[in-house]
Amino acid sequence: MNIETFEKQHIEQAKAIAFANYEEERATVSALPPIGQLPELHRFAENGLGVAAIDNGKLVGYLCCVGPFSNAFASQVKGIFSPIHAHGALPENRELIYRRMYQAAAEKWVSKGALYHAVALYAHDAQAIGAFFQYGFGLRCVDAIRPMSPVDCPPMTDCTFRLLPKEEVIRLRQMRRKLSAHLSESPCFMHSEPEAVEAWIAKAEKRDTLAFVAEQGANAVAFIEVGEDGENFISETPNMKNICGAYCLPQYRGTGLFANLLDFTVEYLRKEGITRLGVDYESINPSANGAWGKYFTPYTHSVVRRIEEYATQRVL
Ligand SMILES: CC(C)(COP(=O)(O)OP(=O)(O)OC[C@H]1O[C@@H](n2cnc3c(N)ncnc32)[C@H](O)[C@@H]1OP(=O)(O)O)[C@@H](O)C(=O)NCCC(=O)NCCS
Repeated sequence: MNIETFEKQHIEQAKAIAFANYEEERATVSALPPIGQLPELHRFAENGLGVAAIDNGKLVGYLCCVGPFSNAFASQVKGIFSPIHAHGALPENRELIYRRMYQAAAEKWVSKGALYHAVALYAHDAQAIGAFFQYGFGLRCVDAIRPMSPVDCPPMTDCTFRLLPKEEVIRLRQMRRKLSAHLSESPCFMHSEPEAVEAWIAKAEKRDTLAFVAEQGANAVAFIEVGEDGENFISETPNMKNICGAYCLPQYRGTGLFANLLDFTVEYLRKEGITRLGVDYESINPSANGAWGKYFTPYTHSVVRRIEEYATQRVL
């Protein structure tokens, strides 16, 4: 097997591999939609940061990325990201193919100063996950999906659920602040300074999303916010919406209130013609991992490796 730079002539075979890899995941996660067209791969043939694995003249794998971008994961270093369609490999010897491709690609990435490497893998692709685990990667983000079937939960009668009109979204401000505070706690450690939190809230209040709220009396006690796009091409398929924020006050957690709010959200969207609901979350956030893992099926696992700064000081 030879590893070379990913170029234009690899694109057609790469597309066939990407499509087959998606179909493999879809055979396990039945809620995933059929896909007619995968996103274009031309940009990956232009940035020189991708690799192709060739065996007997045939493409057996490719590994490309976007970036490098500064302040990866809000750090001081640059990073790259390989989206789910930016890589793929044939099933035979897949683990070895990924290991060989990463070795060559990582050399390119580090030589450009990219020290955070993030790769979105299909959640049920044990060979790909095994290859990246061996080379120091750990789980960080998950994309998950569910059909619009009812959420299994005993109904709650002492609270109400509704779609919040746009002019009332400011009522979620306090919960959004608490969500940010939650994310800065262990083991998530995704800290934001107060000014950044307020800027994020101002942006969130302007975006074109739907906010569903659970209320007890006059008080909003939980919300789920739903938008058009998620983090990958699958989340952009027609009739699919994606959760982009959720919070439940601590005293109402584990009571079934959140499951009822999700059930209300699903039923509302189903009546609007939505056929699938997605969510992306940090696996390092215990309550998100616990809650979404119960109601949704993961289909991607994004893994991350952080390489130490002194790697860029090598004399090659
Ligand atoms: C996410 C959230 C809205 C879910 O509401 P909830 O009432 O906790 O949801 P549920 O009780 O239905 O499910 C939570 C699951 O996570 C589990 N969980 C919560 N904290 C956990 C922890 N620290 N470790 C392991 N599991 C945990 C719960 O035990 C529960 O699973 P179980 O029913 O099998 O016991 C709520 O927990 C919350 O507001 N969390 C903080 C904000 C947040 O993380 N938002 C999501 C951003 S994507």
